[in-house]
Amino acid sequence: MLKPGVINRRLVGEVIERLEKKGFKLVGLKMMHVSEDLAGKHYAEHDGKPFYNDLVSYVTSGPVIAMVWQADDCVTLMRKVVGATKPTEANPGTIRGDYCIHTDRNIIHASDSDESAEREINLWFKPEELYDWADCEDGWY
Ligand code: PPS
Repeated sequence: MLKPGVINRRLVGEVIERLEKKGFKLVGLKMMHVSEDLAGKHYAEHDGKPFYNDLVSYVTSGPVIAMVWQADDCVTLMRKVVGATKPTEANPGTIRGDYCIHTDRNIIHASDSDESAEREINLWFKPEELYDWADCEDGWY
């Protein structure tokens, strides 16, 4: 999920381009406002942490880009491309390492396990919003 700052900063295309060039397969994408309810469900495991209210208020502050990407070992690869949560720990060359200064303005969320990915996809997308398209590049990445 690309957070509201990415849209403000006109970085949507740039981030998506990186994910496409890596070879991830895009199977779902939409621009949307996040309700308090959806943000609460999405970040339920962080409820009660000191940053929880700021996090929810940030992702509900403007539209986000919700996406579903596929690949072998997708979660592991995606988290490497995305980089560490804290910008001070994210390596240059990663998305967070290249585009963030402050943790509370972290520009992208990526699921941290296959189980979280499944839960989050079900939360954010209806089945008919996901596309299983024939990939003529399959095998080249
Ligand atoms: S924890 O405590 O280790 O489980 O948290 P972490 O995995 O580092 O971060 C969970 C999400 O909270 C966001 N986060 C913050 N938001 C606002 N302010 C502060 N200080 C802050 N610290 C962490 C962090 O970006 C994670 O959200 P996503 O959407 O995955 O980036």
